[in-house]
Amino acid sequence: MSYYEIQGGRPLSGALAVHGAKNSVLPILAACLLVSGQNVIHNCPDLSDVSATLDILRLLGCRVEREEDTVTIDASGLNRWDIPEYLMREMRSSVIFLGALLARLGTAELSYPGGCELGPRPIDLHLSTLRALGAEILEEQGALCCRGRKKSLQGREVCLPIPSVGATENAMLAACGCPGLTTIVGAAQEPEIVDLQNFLQAMGAQVRGAGTPTVSIQGGVPLHPARYRVMGDRIAAATYLCAAAAAQGEVELTGVSPDTLTAVLACLKEAGCVLRTGSDRIALTCVGPLRGISAVRTAPYPGFPTDAQAILMAALAGGEGATLFEENIFASRYRHVDELRRMGADIQLAGRAAMVSGVGRLHGAAVRSTDLRGGAALVVAALGAEGTTQVSELRHIRRGYQNLDRNLRSLGAEIREIP
Ligand code: UD1
Repeated sequence: MSYYEIQGGRPLSGALAVHGAKNSVLPILAACLLVSGQNVIHNCPDLSDVSATLDILRLLGCRVEREEDTVTIDASGLNRWDIPEYLMREMRSSVIFLGALLARLGTAELSYPGGCELGPRPIDLHLSTLRALGAEILEEQGALCCRGRKKSLQGREVCLPIPSVGATENAMLAACGCPGLTTIVGAAQEPEIVDLQNFLQAMGAQVRGAGTPTVSIQGGVPLHPARYRVMGDRIAAATYLCAAAAAQGEVELTGVSPDTLTAVLACLKEAGCVLRTGSDRIALTCVGPLRGISAVRTAPYPGFPTDAQAILMAALAGGEGATLFEENIFASRYRHVDELRRMGADIQLAGRAAMVSGVGRLHGAAVRSTDLRGGAALVVAALGAEGTTQVSELRHIRRGYQNLDRNLRSLGAEIREIP
Protein backbone atom coordinates (compact mmCIF):
# COMPACT_ATOMS: atom_id res chain seq x y z
CA MET A 1 0.00 0.00 0.00
CA SER A 2 1.60 3.28 -1.04
CA TYR A 3 1.51 6.34 1.20
CA TYR A 4 2.77 9.92 1.33
CA GLU A 5 5.56 10.72 3.70
CA ILE A 6 5.51 14.39 4.63
CA GLN A 7 8.06 16.31 6.63
CA GLY A 8 6.13 19.27 8.00
CA GLY A 9 7.14 22.82 8.72
CA ARG A 10 8.63 23.80 5.35
CA PRO A 11 7.11 27.11 4.18
CA LEU A 12 5.64 26.96 0.67
CA SER A 13 6.53 29.40 -2.06
CA GLY A 14 6.07 29.68 -5.80
CA ALA A 15 3.40 29.49 -8.50
CA LEU A 16 1.14 26.66 -9.58
CA ALA A 17 -1.38 26.15 -12.39
CA VAL A 18 -4.56 24.55 -11.03
CA HIS A 19 -5.96 21.64 -13.04
CA GLY A 20 -9.43 21.44 -14.56
CA ALA A 21 -12.41 20.93 -12.28
CA LYS A 22 -13.32 17.32 -11.47
CA ASN A 23 -16.90 18.25 -10.72
CA SER A 24 -17.48 19.92 -14.05
CA VAL A 25 -15.50 17.61 -16.30
CA LEU A 26 -17.54 14.56 -15.19
CA PRO A 27 -20.94 15.87 -16.39
CA ILE A 28 -19.28 17.44 -19.44
CA LEU A 29 -17.82 14.06 -20.46
CA ALA A 30 -21.25 12.47 -20.00
CA ALA A 31 -22.74 15.26 -22.12
CA CYS A 32 -20.50 14.15 -24.99
CA LEU A 33 -22.95 11.26 -25.44
CA LEU A 34 -25.60 13.69 -26.66
CA VAL A 35 -24.16 13.95 -30.18
CA SER A 36 -22.48 11.93 -32.90
CA GLY A 37 -19.09 13.31 -33.87
CA GLN A 38 -15.94 14.43 -32.18
CA ASN A 39 -15.99 16.58 -29.04
CA VAL A 40 -12.68 18.00 -27.87
CA ILE A 41 -12.35 18.74 -24.15
CA HIS A 42 -9.34 20.76 -22.98
CA ASN A 43 -8.03 21.12 -19.42
CA CYS A 44 -9.28 17.63 -18.59
CA PRO A 45 -7.52 16.56 -15.37
CA ASP A 46 -5.90 13.15 -15.06
CA LEU A 47 -7.83 11.74 -12.09
CA SER A 48 -9.08 8.27 -11.29
CA ASP A 49 -12.70 9.53 -11.41
CA VAL A 50 -12.02 10.83 -14.93
CA SER A 51 -10.45 7.50 -15.98
CA ALA A 52 -13.53 5.68 -14.64
CA THR A 53 -15.78 8.01 -16.67
CA LEU A 54 -13.71 7.46 -19.82
CA ASP A 55 -13.95 3.67 -19.25
CA ILE A 56 -17.74 3.97 -19.15
CA LEU A 57 -17.74 5.99 -22.39
CA ARG A 58 -15.54 3.36 -24.09
CA LEU A 59 -17.77 0.54 -22.90
CA LEU A 60 -20.78 2.32 -24.37
CA GLY A 61 -19.05 2.34 -27.78
CA CYS A 62 -17.43 5.80 -27.82
CA ARG A 63 -13.99 6.41 -29.28
CA VAL A 64 -11.91 8.08 -26.57
CA GLU A 65 -8.43 9.50 -26.98
CA ARG A 66 -6.30 11.42 -24.54
CA GLU A 67 -3.28 13.59 -25.28
CA GLU A 68 -1.97 15.33 -22.19
CA ASP A 69 -4.90 17.34 -20.86
CA THR A 70 -6.98 17.16 -24.04
CA VAL A 71 -9.54 14.40 -24.41
CA THR A 72 -11.37 13.64 -27.66
CA ILE A 73 -14.66 11.79 -27.48
CA ASP A 74 -16.63 10.52 -30.43
CA ALA A 75 -19.98 9.03 -29.52
CA SER A 76 -20.96 8.14 -33.13
CA GLY A 77 -20.51 4.45 -32.32
CA LEU A 78 -22.72 4.48 -29.19
CA ASN A 79 -24.10 0.94 -29.14
CA ARG A 80 -25.01 0.23 -25.51
CA TRP A 81 -27.16 1.83 -22.86
CA ASP A 82 -26.28 -0.40 -19.90
CA ILE A 83 -23.47 0.29 -17.44
CA PRO A 84 -22.35 -2.70 -15.37
CA GLU A 85 -22.00 -2.60 -11.61
CA TYR A 86 -18.20 -2.79 -11.55
CA LEU A 87 -17.99 0.55 -13.39
CA MET A 88 -20.89 2.22 -11.58
CA ARG A 89 -19.49 1.53 -8.11
CA GLU A 90 -16.27 3.41 -8.93
CA MET A 91 -17.95 6.75 -8.24
CA ARG A 92 -21.25 8.31 -7.38
CA SER A 93 -21.30 10.80 -10.23
CA SER A 94 -21.72 7.91 -12.71
CA VAL A 95 -25.45 8.42 -12.11
CA ILE A 96 -25.11 11.39 -14.48
CA PHE A 97 -25.12 8.90 -17.38
CA LEU A 98 -28.81 8.32 -16.72
CA GLY A 99 -29.80 11.76 -18.03
CA ALA A 100 -27.33 11.67 -20.92
CA LEU A 101 -28.36 8.20 -22.17
CA LEU A 102 -32.01 9.06 -21.80
CA ALA A 103 -31.58 12.21 -23.89
CA ARG A 104 -29.72 10.41 -26.67
CA LEU A 105 -31.38 6.95 -26.74
CA GLY A 106 -34.44 7.14 -24.52
CA THR A 107 -33.16 4.11 -22.56
CA ALA A 108 -30.60 3.44 -19.83
CA GLU A 109 -29.79 0.60 -17.48
CA LEU A 110 -27.51 1.33 -14.53
CA SER A 111 -26.80 -0.16 -11.15
CA TYR A 112 -26.79 2.11 -8.08
CA PRO A 113 -23.73 4.36 -8.00
CA GLY A 114 -20.84 4.19 -5.53
CA GLY A 115 -18.54 7.01 -4.38
CA CYS A 116 -17.18 8.64 -1.23
CA GLU A 117 -18.58 7.41 2.08
CA LEU A 118 -20.26 10.59 3.26
CA GLY A 119 -23.31 9.02 4.87
CA PRO A 120 -26.51 8.29 2.97
CA ARG A 121 -26.38 9.86 -0.48
CA PRO A 122 -29.74 9.10 -2.03
CA ILE A 123 -30.54 9.58 -5.68
CA ASP A 124 -34.26 10.08 -5.20
CA LEU A 125 -34.15 13.64 -6.62
CA HIS A 126 -32.35 12.43 -9.75
CA LEU A 127 -35.07 9.84 -10.29
CA SER A 128 -38.01 12.11 -9.50
CA THR A 129 -36.87 14.83 -11.90
CA LEU A 130 -36.27 12.33 -14.72
CA ARG A 131 -39.67 10.75 -14.02
CA ALA A 132 -41.24 14.21 -14.16
CA LEU A 133 -39.80 14.53 -17.68
CA GLY A 134 -41.62 11.34 -18.71
CA ALA A 135 -39.00 8.65 -18.04
CA GLU A 136 -40.25 5.34 -16.73
CA ILE A 137 -37.73 4.13 -14.15
CA LEU A 138 -37.93 0.69 -12.56
CA GLU A 139 -35.79 -0.09 -9.53
CA GLU A 140 -35.05 -3.80 -9.35
CA GLN A 141 -32.43 -5.59 -7.26
CA GLY A 142 -29.96 -2.74 -7.15
CA ALA A 143 -30.47 -1.88 -10.83
CA LEU A 144 -32.15 1.11 -12.41
CA CYS A 145 -33.94 0.43 -15.62
CA CYS A 146 -34.90 3.62 -17.34
CA ARG A 147 -37.07 3.90 -20.43
CA GLY A 148 -38.07 7.21 -21.88
CA ARG A 149 -39.92 5.86 -24.90
CA LYS A 150 -38.93 8.91 -26.87
CA LYS A 151 -42.53 9.97 -27.33
CA SER A 152 -43.30 10.03 -23.60
CA LEU A 153 -40.39 12.42 -22.91
CA GLN A 154 -41.61 15.97 -22.71
CA GLY A 155 -40.16 19.19 -21.36
CA ARG A 156 -41.92 20.35 -18.19
CA GLU A 157 -41.40 22.36 -15.05
CA VAL A 158 -39.53 20.29 -12.46
CA CYS A 159 -38.97 21.45 -8.87
CA LEU A 160 -36.06 20.42 -6.67
CA PRO A 161 -36.83 20.60 -2.94
CA ILE A 162 -33.07 20.80 -2.23
CA PRO A 163 -30.60 22.31 -4.73
CA SER A 164 -28.84 19.03 -5.59
CA VAL A 165 -25.89 19.58 -7.91
CA GLY A 166 -26.08 16.13 -9.51
CA ALA A 167 -29.87 16.15 -9.91
CA THR A 168 -29.71 19.59 -11.55
CA GLU A 169 -27.07 18.34 -14.02
CA ASN A 170 -28.95 15.11 -14.73
CA ALA A 171 -32.13 17.07 -15.43
CA MET A 172 -30.25 19.51 -17.72
CA LEU A 173 -28.82 16.63 -19.77
CA ALA A 174 -32.09 14.71 -20.01
CA ALA A 175 -33.97 17.90 -20.92
CA CYS A 176 -31.76 18.38 -23.99
CA GLY A 177 -33.49 15.28 -25.41
CA CYS A 178 -37.02 16.20 -24.33
CA PRO A 179 -39.02 18.22 -26.84
CA GLY A 180 -40.41 21.45 -25.42
CA LEU A 181 -39.38 23.69 -22.57
CA THR A 182 -38.02 22.28 -19.32
CA THR A 183 -37.71 24.64 -16.37
CA ILE A 184 -35.73 23.45 -13.36
CA VAL A 185 -36.94 25.39 -10.33
CA GLY A 186 -34.77 25.28 -7.20
CA ALA A 187 -31.68 24.38 -9.24
CA ALA A 188 -28.22 24.25 -7.66
CA GLN A 189 -26.15 27.33 -8.55
CA GLU A 190 -22.61 25.92 -8.37
CA PRO A 191 -20.08 27.26 -10.92
CA GLU A 192 -19.75 23.72 -12.32
CA ILE A 193 -23.38 23.94 -13.45
CA VAL A 194 -22.55 27.13 -15.32
CA ASP A 195 -19.62 25.27 -16.89
CA LEU A 196 -21.93 22.46 -18.02
CA GLN A 197 -24.34 25.04 -19.46
CA ASN A 198 -21.48 26.71 -21.35
CA PHE A 199 -20.50 23.36 -22.90
CA LEU A 200 -24.10 22.53 -23.81
CA GLN A 201 -24.44 25.97 -25.41
CA ALA A 202 -21.24 25.32 -27.38
CA MET A 203 -23.01 22.17 -28.69
CA GLY A 204 -25.93 24.32 -29.81
CA ALA A 205 -28.27 23.58 -26.90
CA GLN A 206 -30.69 26.28 -25.79
CA VAL A 207 -29.95 26.39 -22.07
CA ARG A 208 -30.18 29.48 -19.87
CA GLY A 209 -30.19 30.45 -16.24
CA ALA A 210 -27.35 28.31 -14.80
CA GLY A 211 -25.90 30.09 -11.77
CA THR A 212 -29.42 31.14 -10.71
CA PRO A 213 -32.11 28.98 -9.06
CA THR A 214 -34.01 28.63 -12.37
CA VAL A 215 -32.50 26.85 -15.36
CA SER A 216 -34.46 26.49 -18.58
CA ILE A 217 -33.79 24.21 -21.52
CA GLN A 218 -35.54 24.22 -24.86
CA GLY A 219 -35.08 20.57 -25.71
CA GLY A 220 -35.08 18.63 -28.95
CA VAL A 221 -32.99 21.15 -30.91
CA PRO A 222 -30.25 19.62 -33.09
CA LEU A 223 -26.85 19.53 -31.37
CA HIS A 224 -23.36 19.37 -32.84
CA PRO A 225 -19.94 18.40 -31.46
CA ALA A 226 -17.96 21.13 -29.70
CA ARG A 227 -14.53 22.10 -28.47
CA TYR A 228 -14.47 23.26 -24.85
CA ARG A 229 -12.08 24.19 -22.04
CA VAL A 230 -13.11 23.06 -18.57
CA MET A 231 -12.97 25.64 -15.73
CA GLY A 232 -10.27 25.43 -13.06
CA ASP A 233 -10.88 23.29 -9.98
CA ARG A 234 -11.93 25.58 -7.13
CA ILE A 235 -11.61 22.83 -4.51
CA ALA A 236 -8.09 21.88 -5.61
CA ALA A 237 -7.29 25.60 -5.46
CA ALA A 238 -8.76 25.82 -1.94
CA THR A 239 -6.54 22.87 -0.98
CA TYR A 240 -3.31 24.54 -2.17
CA LEU A 241 -4.31 27.81 -0.48
CA CYS A 242 -5.04 26.04 2.82
CA ALA A 243 -1.73 24.17 2.46
CA ALA A 244 0.12 27.48 2.17
CA ALA A 245 -1.89 28.85 5.10
CA ALA A 246 -1.02 25.83 7.27
CA ALA A 247 2.67 25.67 6.31
CA GLN A 248 2.97 29.47 5.88
CA GLY A 249 4.67 31.08 2.90
CA GLU A 250 3.60 32.71 -0.32
CA VAL A 251 1.95 30.97 -3.29
CA GLU A 252 0.24 32.11 -6.46
CA LEU A 253 -2.35 29.95 -8.20
CA THR A 254 -3.34 30.44 -11.82
CA GLY A 255 -6.18 28.98 -13.87
CA VAL A 256 -8.88 29.48 -11.27
CA SER A 257 -11.36 32.29 -10.86
CA PRO A 258 -11.41 33.88 -7.38
CA ASP A 259 -15.12 34.59 -7.94
CA THR A 260 -15.80 30.86 -7.50
CA LEU A 261 -14.04 30.83 -4.11
CA THR A 262 -15.41 33.92 -2.37
CA ALA A 263 -16.54 32.10 0.80
CA VAL A 264 -13.23 30.25 1.24
CA LEU A 265 -11.11 33.34 0.57
CA ALA A 266 -13.10 35.31 3.16
CA CYS A 267 -12.28 32.67 5.80
CA LEU A 268 -8.57 32.64 4.94
CA LYS A 269 -8.47 36.41 5.12
CA GLU A 270 -10.19 36.44 8.50
CA ALA A 271 -7.67 33.85 9.71
CA GLY A 272 -4.86 36.29 8.94
CA CYS A 273 -3.77 35.50 5.37
CA VAL A 274 -3.16 38.26 2.84
CA LEU A 275 -4.85 37.62 -0.51
CA ARG A 276 -4.42 39.27 -3.88
CA THR A 277 -6.62 38.27 -6.78
CA GLY A 278 -6.80 38.77 -10.53
CA SER A 279 -9.34 37.46 -13.04
CA ASP A 280 -7.89 33.93 -13.06
CA ARG A 281 -5.29 34.02 -10.28
CA ILE A 282 -5.11 34.06 -6.51
CA ALA A 283 -2.01 34.84 -4.46
CA LEU A 284 -1.84 34.09 -0.75
CA THR A 285 0.73 35.16 1.79
CA CYS A 286 0.71 33.80 5.30
CA VAL A 287 3.21 34.68 7.99
CA GLY A 288 2.48 33.76 11.55
CA PRO A 289 -0.10 31.34 12.92
CA LEU A 290 -3.71 31.28 11.70
CA ARG A 291 -6.32 32.84 13.98
CA GLY A 292 -9.69 31.33 14.89
CA ILE A 293 -12.53 32.73 12.77
CA SER A 294 -16.31 33.17 12.92
CA ALA A 295 -18.44 30.05 12.41
CA VAL A 296 -17.92 28.20 9.13
CA ARG A 297 -21.27 26.82 7.98
CA THR A 298 -21.34 24.70 4.84
CA ALA A 299 -24.15 25.61 2.47
CA PRO A 300 -25.07 25.33 -1.20
CA TYR A 301 -23.18 27.77 -3.46
CA PRO A 302 -22.44 30.64 -2.94
CA GLY A 303 -22.13 29.46 0.69
CA PHE A 304 -19.05 27.78 2.10
CA PRO A 305 -18.48 24.56 0.10
CA THR A 306 -18.78 21.26 1.98
CA ASP A 307 -15.84 20.02 -0.11
CA ALA A 308 -13.54 22.59 1.52
CA GLN A 309 -14.71 21.98 5.10
CA ALA A 310 -12.15 19.31 6.05
CA ILE A 311 -9.35 21.17 4.29
CA LEU A 312 -9.90 24.48 6.09
CA MET A 313 -10.45 22.63 9.38
CA ALA A 314 -7.05 20.95 8.99
CA ALA A 315 -5.33 24.32 8.53
CA LEU A 316 -7.11 25.96 11.49
CA ALA A 317 -6.51 22.97 13.79
CA GLY A 318 -2.80 23.80 13.73
CA GLY A 319 -3.40 27.54 14.23
CA GLU A 320 -4.39 29.52 17.31
CA GLY A 321 -7.88 30.26 18.58
CA ALA A 322 -11.20 28.49 18.21
CA THR A 323 -13.50 28.03 15.21
CA LEU A 324 -16.93 26.42 15.07
CA PHE A 325 -17.74 24.37 11.95
CA GLU A 326 -21.24 23.30 10.98
CA GLU A 327 -21.69 20.68 8.25
CA ASN A 328 -25.10 21.11 6.67
CA ILE A 329 -24.82 19.17 3.41
CA PHE A 330 -23.68 15.62 4.23
CA ALA A 331 -24.33 13.57 7.35
CA SER A 332 -20.95 11.84 7.77
CA ARG A 333 -18.46 14.41 6.76
CA TYR A 334 -16.31 14.43 9.88
CA ARG A 335 -14.49 11.15 9.28
CA HIS A 336 -11.18 13.01 9.04
CA VAL A 337 -11.57 14.31 12.60
CA ASP A 338 -10.29 11.13 14.30
CA GLU A 339 -7.24 11.20 12.03
CA LEU A 340 -6.56 14.89 12.77
CA ARG A 341 -6.79 14.05 16.49
CA ARG A 342 -3.96 11.55 16.00
CA MET A 343 -1.90 14.55 14.95
CA GLY A 344 -2.76 16.37 18.16
CA ALA A 345 -5.83 18.32 16.97
CA ASP A 346 -8.37 19.40 19.58
CA ILE A 347 -11.77 18.96 17.92
CA GLN A 348 -15.05 18.32 19.74
CA LEU A 349 -17.93 16.88 17.72
CA ALA A 350 -21.61 17.30 18.49
CA GLY A 351 -23.94 16.26 15.69
CA ARG A 352 -23.37 18.53 12.73
CA ALA A 353 -21.09 20.85 14.75
CA ALA A 354 -17.33 20.58 15.21
CA MET A 355 -15.53 22.89 17.63
CA VAL A 356 -11.90 23.27 16.60
CA SER A 357 -9.50 24.73 19.17
CA GLY A 358 -6.19 25.56 17.54
CA VAL A 359 -3.29 23.89 19.35
CA GLY A 360 -0.56 26.11 17.87
CA ARG A 361 1.15 23.25 16.08
CA LEU A 362 0.06 19.71 15.15
CA HIS A 363 2.56 16.85 15.21
CA GLY A 364 3.33 14.10 12.70
CA ALA A 365 1.55 10.72 12.91
CA ALA A 366 0.54 7.76 10.77
CA VAL A 367 -2.93 8.61 9.43
CA ARG A 368 -5.36 7.21 6.89
CA SER A 369 -7.40 9.03 4.22
CA THR A 370 -11.05 8.36 4.90
CA ASP A 371 -12.44 9.97 1.74
CA LEU A 372 -11.27 12.31 -1.02
CA ARG A 373 -11.33 15.69 0.78
CA GLY A 374 -10.60 14.11 4.16
CA GLY A 375 -7.40 12.72 2.66
CA ALA A 376 -6.41 16.10 1.23
CA ALA A 377 -7.07 17.63 4.66
CA LEU A 378 -4.53 15.27 6.24
CA VAL A 379 -1.91 16.38 3.71
CA VAL A 380 -2.67 20.03 4.55
CA ALA A 381 -2.36 19.29 8.28
CA ALA A 382 0.90 17.38 7.75
CA LEU A 383 2.51 20.26 5.83
CA GLY A 384 2.09 22.54 8.85
CA ALA A 385 2.86 19.91 11.49
CA GLU A 386 6.05 19.29 13.37
CA GLY A 387 7.78 16.06 12.36
CA THR A 388 6.89 13.34 9.88
CA THR A 389 3.41 12.24 8.84
CA GLN A 390 2.48 9.20 6.76
CA VAL A 391 -0.82 9.53 4.90
CA SER A 392 -2.13 6.21 3.55
CA GLU A 393 -5.12 5.17 1.39
CA LEU A 394 -4.04 7.46 -1.44
CA ARG A 395 -6.68 6.01 -3.77
CA HIS A 396 -9.16 8.46 -2.24
CA ILE A 397 -6.88 11.43 -2.97
CA ARG A 398 -6.26 10.30 -6.57
CA ARG A 399 -9.98 10.58 -7.29
CA GLY A 400 -9.69 14.37 -7.23
CA TYR A 401 -6.06 15.57 -7.33
CA GLN A 402 -3.63 15.31 -10.21
CA ASN A 403 0.01 15.10 -9.03
CA LEU A 404 -0.72 16.46 -5.56
CA ASP A 405 2.72 15.43 -4.26
CA ARG A 406 4.63 16.72 -7.28
CA ASN A 407 2.80 20.06 -7.18
CA LEU A 408 3.49 20.53 -3.48
CA ARG A 409 7.16 19.61 -4.00
CA SER A 410 7.37 22.31 -6.66
CA LEU A 411 6.29 24.77 -3.94
CA GLY A 412 9.03 23.56 -1.61
CA ALA A 413 7.14 20.97 0.44
CA GLU A 414 8.92 17.83 1.55
CA ILE A 415 6.50 15.16 0.43
CA ARG A 416 7.17 11.91 -1.38
CA GLU A 417 5.18 8.88 -2.28
CA ILE A 418 6.50 5.66 -0.83
CA PRO A 419 5.37 2.83 -3.09
C1 UD1 B 1 -21.76 17.26 -5.78
C2 UD1 B 1 -20.25 17.22 -5.87
C3 UD1 B 1 -19.65 17.00 -4.49
C4 UD1 B 1 -20.16 18.05 -3.52
C5 UD1 B 1 -21.68 18.13 -3.55
C6 UD1 B 1 -22.24 19.28 -2.72
C7 UD1 B 1 -19.89 16.28 -8.07
C8 UD1 B 1 -19.38 15.15 -8.88
N1 UD1 B 1 -19.88 16.12 -6.74
O1 UD1 B 1 -22.20 16.02 -5.28
O2 UD1 B 1 -18.23 17.08 -4.60
O3 UD1 B 1 -19.74 17.71 -2.21
O4 UD1 B 1 -22.15 18.32 -4.89
O5 UD1 B 1 -21.72 20.49 -3.17
O6 UD1 B 1 -20.26 17.31 -8.59
N2 UD1 B 1 -29.61 14.61 -2.07
C9 UD1 B 1 -30.79 13.93 -1.87
N3 UD1 B 1 -31.33 13.24 -2.93
C10 UD1 B 1 -30.73 13.23 -4.16
C11 UD1 B 1 -29.54 13.92 -4.34
C12 UD1 B 1 -29.00 14.62 -3.27
O7 UD1 B 1 -31.35 13.91 -0.76
O8 UD1 B 1 -31.28 12.59 -5.07
C13 UD1 B 1 -29.01 15.35 -0.94
C14 UD1 B 1 -27.64 14.80 -0.55
O9 UD1 B 1 -27.74 13.70 0.33
C15 UD1 B 1 -27.00 16.01 0.09
C16 UD1 B 1 -27.59 17.18 -0.71
O10 UD1 B 1 -28.74 16.67 -1.36
O11 UD1 B 1 -27.41 16.11 1.43
C17 UD1 B 1 -26.66 17.77 -1.74
O12 UD1 B 1 -26.15 16.74 -2.57
P1 UD1 B 1 -25.80 16.98 -4.10
O13 UD1 B 1 -25.76 18.44 -4.37
O14 UD1 B 1 -26.71 16.16 -4.94
O15 UD1 B 1 -24.35 16.39 -4.19
P2 UD1 B 1 -23.71 15.59 -5.40
O16 UD1 B 1 -24.27 16.08 -6.69
O17 UD1 B 1 -23.76 14.15 -5.10
